[in-house]
Amino acid sequence: MIPQSFIQDLLNRVDIVDVVGKYVQLKKGGANFMGLCPFHNEKSPSFTVSPTKQFYHCFGCGAHGSAIGFLMEYSGQSYPDAVRELAQSVGLSVPEERNSLPPAQRAEQQARSLALTDAMTRATDFYKKQLRGAPQAIQYLKGRGLTGEIAAHFGLGYAPDDWQGLETVFGSYRDDAIAGPLVEAGLLIESQEKRDADGKPRRYDRFRDRIMFPIRNTKGNVIGFGGRVMGQGEPKYLNSPETPLFSKGTELYGLFEARHAIRENGYVLVVEGYMDVVALAQLGFANAVATLGTACTPVHVQKLMRQTDAVVFSFDGDAAGRRAARRALEACLPHVADNKTIRFLFLPAEHDPDSYVREEGTDAFARQVQNAMPLSRFLLQIVTEDQDLRQPEGRARAQYEAKPLLQAMPAGGLRLQIVRELADTTSTTPAEIEAICGLGSDSSRVGRFAQPRPRARRQAPTGLEQRVIQLLMCYPSLAARLDGDARALLLDPQHSGSEALGYLVSACDGIQGEVNFAAFSEQLAQTPYADVYASARTAVLREEIEEEPATHEFDGAVHKLLAEPLEREQKALEAMVSAGTADEETKARYLWLSREVQRRRQMGWRPAAMEDS
Ligand code: UTP
Ligand code: MN
Repeated sequence: MIPQSFIQDLLNRVDIVDVVGKYVQLKKGGANFMGLCPFHNEKSPSFTVSPTKQFYHCFGCGAHGSAIGFLMEYSGQSYPDAVRELAQSVGLSVPEERNSLPPAQRAEQQARSLALTDAMTRATDFYKKQLRGAPQAIQYLKGRGLTGEIAAHFGLGYAPDDWQGLETVFGSYRDDAIAGPLVEAGLLIESQEKRDADGKPRRYDRFRDRIMFPIRNTKGNVIGFGGRVMGQGEPKYLNSPETPLFSKGTELYGLFEARHAIRENGYVLVVEGYMDVVALAQLGFANAVATLGTACTPVHVQKLMRQTDAVVFSFDGDAAGRRAARRALEACLPHVADNKTIRFLFLPAEHDPDSYVREEGTDAFARQVQNAMPLSRFLLQIVTEDQDLRQPEGRARAQYEAKPLLQAMPAGGLRLQIVRELADTTSTTPAEIEAICGLGSDSSRVGRFAQPRPRARRQAPTGLEQRVIQLLMCYPSLAARLDGDARALLLDPQHSGSEALGYLVSACDGIQGEVNFAAFSEQLAQTPYADVYASARTAVLREEIEEEPATHEFDGAVHKLLAEPLEREQKALEAMVSAGTADEETKARYLWLSREVQRRRQMGWRPAAMEDS
């Protein structure tokens, strides 16, 4: 957990124009900056960045957010990573509420990881340069159908057939200060047995005579390598070991290179091999990524889901491919949602995506993608295959197989649909399936959509309330103009205001010192009324209102807002009074209301600040 106060501080210090400007060419246009939206394909700019609000907004595709949101969207980083990157750019360090290291230790850790990153970058450059002077390696890549352009896009390189190849870049491996980071980065291997005359362990290059595939993180830094032998030899692919920078269970090959294509195509293709990614990019599918010789993990899936709503896994059609697909299915289950689609495509047994797209062509592969099997069908296939559904035993077994899979899914529309289908195929009722599989929580029972609601029905703000919300979001200091009466009315949802308005007034009161629009929006997005504030924010972003007119409008709007319920009540009582059905109390209330409405009409509502003077 990163404390909200730090986020506020951070967003007050960074300038979103700089942050976005690193990735998008921006031109000044009026109060805002404009550019081509990086989140959808467009020819004329509808992407705006507001320096005063510290917010970006695309009027074409609706993408919007603060500097933090931009980094997350653009590079697929997680929230903490984006915060960390921003903090680093302005020289702040993120306070970790838990497991915080003493400053000295933290500085040391940072220096170490910097040294590793630096080593990886220099090694990548070295391997790239070596490729240019290695005709046999170039020939190998050409033979696999790759152009120089694609090789450059993926930063492919060649590790020479040399036990001390990297010495030309870094210096002597006998120097511990040089070799230390290289060993830790997995570029060198330190022999446990062989030692030099002076007792130092023998150190040598991990990657020799191999085609090098750099693995980048979502920021584009190289964090590991895969190295392929060019002919026969074992292992076919040698990978970087787990290092402080690199973990196979969370990284995906090609994600950085594919990020734009994933957005443009609206889905990501997940394949099994380095060469599949590169070959698919060469032949028109630049939106492919690969796991790194490991099974797909839930962390992988989560990472992908941050980039796109649609994932298509491609597996070889053989038994190993199906096993891998099942693992992928399991990794996906915790992340299924009704607005996401996950599908599985199975190639003919003799093929992987690389060989398939080369032999059968781009169109054939596109058809495979189109016809990929939805997750629900794959799940039902897995649990029913090998079962004789004509027998009670077979049907029970299918339910038994389904249990852990259904349990791994969040309750929701898709799980419900799968339960229904399983009920059909196993001659059961959905309720029985839920009982057998232990899915029965109240909110997830089949046939009932008891959405967990935070409270009783929320009242949507009226037009006037919405306007007050917008003005307050723009200028939170306006809240100070509300006097005790006004507050009592606005904060009381029974009486006048919506809960969202009341909550906002308190939030404005709680602001200490300066806060910019982006930081405040970010804070409001964490509240139960996030949707109300989000639509207000969109409206606010469409106009540039100065503080003075905003103040006038605010006073007028609050005045009307406060008079409205009184007038409504007065009108309601009027009917009873003139019909003679009102009791004494009602009559008295009616008289008071009439006078009060009259008084308010005459004097108008005066803000608290003025009453004091
Ligand atoms: P494959 O053996 O299917 O190779 O391994 P491939 O991707 O088709 O490679 P090419 O076409 O022969 O060049 C699939 C993936 O498994 C991992 C790699 O990530 C590889 O891309 N792998 C495979 C290893 O890590 N080590 C190996 O020795 C083999
Ligand atoms: Mn292959």
